[in-house]
Amino acid sequence: MLGVLWAVGAVFVVELVRDTWHWLSHVWPWLYRHHVWHHRVFRRDLSVASLEIYRKAQFYNDLPECAVMLVFAIAIWQLSLLSHLPGAAASSLGILYTAGFMLAAIARGLGWPRARELTDVTHKQGPFTEPPSAWFVNRTYHWRHHFDNDNAYYCSTFTFLDGLMGTALSLKGKTVAVTGASGTLGRALLVHLRQAGAKVVAFTSRPEDVVIDIAGETTVIPTRQWSVERVEAVDLRDIDILVINHGINVYGARTPDAIQRSLAVNAASALALMDAFLAMVQTDADRARKEVWVNTSEAEVSPALSPLYEISKRLLGQLVTLKRLDAPCTVRKIILGPFKSALNPYGVMSAERVAAAVVRKAQSGQHNIIVTINPLTWIVWPLHEVLTSLYFRWFSKAASSAPTPVSEAESLS
Ligand SMILES: NC(=O)c1ccc[n+]([C@@H]2O[C@H](COP(=O)([O-])OP(=O)(O)OC[C@H]3O[C@@H](n4cnc5c(N)ncnc54)[C@H](OP(=O)(O)O)[C@@H]3O)[C@@H](O)[C@H]2O)c1
Repeated sequence: MLGVLWAVGAVFVVELVRDTWHWLSHVWPWLYRHHVWHHRVFRRDLSVASLEIYRKAQFYNDLPECAVMLVFAIAIWQLSLLSHLPGAAASSLGILYTAGFMLAAIARGLGWPRARELTDVTHKQGPFTEPPSAWFVNRTYHWRHHFDNDNAYYCSTFTFLDGLMGTALSLKGKTVAVTGASGTLGRALLVHLRQAGAKVVAFTSRPEDVVIDIAGETTVIPTRQWSVERVEAVDLRDIDILVINHGINVYGARTPDAIQRSLAVNAASALALMDAFLAMVQTDADRARKEVWVNTSEAEVSPALSPLYEISKRLLGQLVTLKRLDAPCTVRKIILGPFKSALNPYGVMSAERVAAAVVRKAQSGQHNIIVTINPLTWIVWPLHEVLTSLYFRWFSKAASSAPTPVSEAESLS
């Protein structure tokens, strides 16, 4: 058992070395001169632009990267042997693992038939069948390093280092729309998303444009009016990331009107927006770049002293859990504790800090963004989410009419 831990640990550290080297290759111009060969190779559909460049890139980039990994793999093995701890010898797996990559790079560099197809997994051609994954790098995740922002998405196998560096999601240049934009959290999100490099769009149910204050400067944000009654009229075509943030709290009311409004605003309109947005995910690029973030609240699992708020947010939370089983792009949930706002004057956190944390955690790649001071939420919410998701997976089916993925090549043709 200890041997397995040493072996897995060695592989993990070697991968960290690879990802750190990759990051260094982007920030250190001398290294970038060699690394850039790798970036010259691929077209947007991951076909190889030139076989000659592809082969060169193996010797200028992949092989040196493997050599650095090998040096560290040997050092880890030697150090672990010196520790005399049980199972330490198993850390030699790091060397074997790296040697495999080295041989593969040589085979690709020499142009051996099928070497690319068998060993260059993250650059394989073909339609993306899933959104960027959360823990392990898949093709959709890595595509973004080449064609979304090459100063992000550095990881090759585990997404750990991107998570640590906040490079698991680049907001730079992305068009991000926020509903409930004139509300307390809405405005704070617009500020932090903009500071992270996004082009923000305010979706509001009010007639006037949304204005925010950034470092003492008043800025009018491009604004689109929308209403819960006419969700289909909202133009979502140019939106890369939709943040569904609007909501109401009817407190202790339980009139028919309060029930209708809570369900319509907090759940039904959010679902309709999400459906409309997901229907626009058509191409491989959409699958890789588009995202929906849904602000559900920790009321999904804990009391908010407002039954209709809890009912409507729990319904929304469960619908998001159900829908993301088959979602064509990334769907993040935002699970917040009480913060001070028009909706909750008794909140204890500040919307400013909450918004900063939401954006930071999204950049770290978190698919479930929890910001709360309630320690129970950190235990109860993940447990509830995993069990609910498993239950939904086992007892429901994906629609057989699910759209077939359109490859980047097809979509560009
Ligand atoms: N405050 C908390 O303690 C807390 C905790 C957890 C989660 N949340 C969630 O965080 C989100 C933002 O809340 P907040 O605290 O910032 O409250 P807020 O200041 O009241 O903002 C909510 C915004 O939702 C929009 N909205 C309200 N009624 C609407 C309607 N009928 N149709 C369309 N939009 C409507 C409004 O924005 P526009 O006028 O721009 O449309 C409103 O300003 C909500 O989803 C809330 O449930 C809040």
